[in-house]
Amino acid sequence: MTDAPTLLIIWHSRTGAARAMAEAACEAAAGECAVRVLAADDAQPGDLLEADGYLFVCPENLASMTGAMKEFFDRCYYPVLGRIEGRPYAVMVAAGSDGAAAVRQIERIATGWRLKQIAESVIVCTHAQTADAIAAPKHLDAPTLEPVRELGTMFGAGLAMGIF
Ligand SMILES: Cc1cc2nc3c(=O)[nH]c(=O)nc-3n(C[C@H](O)[C@H](O)[C@H](O)COP(=O)(O)O)c2cc1C
Repeated sequence: MTDAPTLLIIWHSRTGAARAMAEAACEAAAGECAVRVLAADDAQPGDLLEADGYLFVCPENLASMTGAMKEFFDRCYYPVLGRIEGRPYAVMVAAGSDGAAAVRQIERIATGWRLKQIAESVIVCTHAQTADAIAAPKHLDAPTLEPVRELGTMFGAGLAMGIF
């Protein structure tokens, strides 16, 4: 761990919603603590070891977290197992209409790592149901992003104060 508490945000997004959530959470948390944002494709076990808390952000696809996010967990799970126990985490999922399955999967992996969940997982529904709506770039307005910002601020402040 570094001296200044660092929140690591790891994200994957196909059409922009989860990316907007990761960016909004980053902006909010950055007012409180150091923040690092990494695409799931780029995140390595060493990045997890260096951080003090984790925010996992991705869409739900086919009742699952996205493949890129799963690949990140597959790549990093065993290299850090037993080395990040007790560190705080939270989850945010972008979904068309559900999101619960992706949340459950990520929470289960985090339980395996013995991380400490510091907030209820946030699901942002984009209401994309048709093929065209699913494929379209997603733009989230400020009210939609409000719970994301709230969690980012709370997570950053808690890390900075050492309360987790
Ligand atoms: C292949 C595929 C499968 C999807 N399956 C689900 C699903 O099971 N549940 C759900 O709520 N949304 C589902 N969606 C909708 C996405 O979760 C939604 O569009 C979300 O906003 C995408 O986030 P992104 O813009 O960060 O990629 C699916 C989208 C795609 C492309």
